[in-house]
Amino acid sequence: METIQEAVPSSAGPAGRPVGHVRPVRLARVASEHWARLRVPIAELDRVLGGGIVPGSLVLIGGDPGIGKSTLLLQLCALVAMDGPVLYVTGEESAEQVKLRADRLGPVSDNLYLLAEVDIDAILGTMQEIQPTLMVVDSIQTMQVGDIESAAGSVSQVRESTVRLMRAAKTSQTPIVIVGHVTKEGAIAGPRVLEHIVDTVLYMEGEHFHSYRLLRSVKNRFGSTNEIGVFEMRDDGLAEVSNPSALFLAERSQASPGSVVVATLEGTRPLLAEIQALVSATTFSLPRRTCAGLDLNRLHLLLAILGKRAGLPLHTYDVYCNVAGGLRLGEPAADLPLALAIASSFADTTVPGELVACGELGLSGEVRGISRAADRLSEAAKLGFTRCIMPAANQRALRGTVPNGIDVVGVASLREAIRLIMPGGRRGHTEPRTPERELEPNTSSSC
Ligand code: TYD
Ligand code: MG
Repeated sequence: METIQEAVPSSAGPAGRPVGHVRPVRLARVASEHWARLRVPIAELDRVLGGGIVPGSLVLIGGDPGIGKSTLLLQLCALVAMDGPVLYVTGEESAEQVKLRADRLGPVSDNLYLLAEVDIDAILGTMQEIQPTLMVVDSIQTMQVGDIESAAGSVSQVRESTVRLMRAAKTSQTPIVIVGHVTKEGAIAGPRVLEHIVDTVLYMEGEHFHSYRLLRSVKNRFGSTNEIGVFEMRDDGLAEVSNPSALFLAERSQASPGSVVVATLEGTRPLLAEIQALVSATTFSLPRRTCAGLDLNRLHLLLAILGKRAGLPLHTYDVYCNVAGGLRLGEPAADLPLALAIASSFADTTVPGELVACGELGLSGEVRGISRAADRLSEAAKLGFTRCIMPAANQRALRGTVPNGIDVVGVASLREAIRLIMPGGRRGHTEPRTPERELEPNTSSSC
């Protein structure tokens, strides 16, 4: 006969493990470890990494194929090899091809080991033997682990290879840098599927037709993600650019309508660039609007603001915008200079060459404050600009801390800014007019 038995509650938690099995620690009592970081002898790369490479960390460098990832890493390996053994693993090129490239880049140290291999376990075996101070795996999409059946480059291969490299980096305290190509086809897994696994993610950007390259940090467990590094691709590899503004302004022609210099920020770094606009009467039923290096939706918004708040009848004009040098601007501080460039091209009036501008535009045509105004101003002064149009709120906040040789003009509205750059209206007109009259287009030359 069955009887009812008392059930004694067990001391197991929801996962079946006894309660009290794991204990938290007080964060304040955790000992702080100070990592001796591996020195990176390329200053622009060092800045993006947050000051050296942490031992045992896994760094991913992503970017379009052919942008310069292998070149940069080979240069890094050659320099680090001066102080200890370095292992460069390539799954893309033969040893001879890598040597050919290395010869272009400079002298090759005896401490730089090359391994043309794609099997992760074989690579990790070699790493244990050589015990390098740094290992580079180029590229992760060519690597494979034997016990997974899918082809190299598939999501599972790329993930598992990365996980094994991560484990090896952590146990041996060897920093490992992996290369990941950004791919458009879904068949090959891109760096995005690895971002959550690795410690640091850097992306190399740039246009193939321009020589400059930007290195941007999008994730960094050991540093800030606000930094960028600037390089120029030359015949002998990537050269550091310590004054990028000069590079981007190098080919600017001073007296041309529709050209305005913007004081922008890339990460925390101030950078000057030239924004160009071309406004011409449309021959289409719908006017064309295109931009290179700027956001098209933002352009549409600015055109609406220029029409409604500054009285520019742009609806019958095509508007083409461009950032010279192939730079891409994503921050709202480019609003005001872009609007001024459009107004200047529309009126066929040049903006003074010694002037820079920055400011965000609101829908009412108000000029809104921006971050790090003082840094932008110093960069402009350093490059010889003598006037800066910026949001009135930022000008007030500067409180006399303006660098020598540059005048700051604070503006609260777009109309005010347009009046400042074109006091006489169209070329050849000097008497003051209302903005609407001032900016009447010169149809003969704007077509
Ligand atoms: P690479 O580093 O192979 O690109 P990734 O590894 O990102 O695919 O760069 C290849 C391009 O760089 C190639 O088009 C040639 C150019 N390059 C130079 O202009 N100068 C150089 O010294 C080197 C090594 C490459
Ligand atoms: Mg490569």
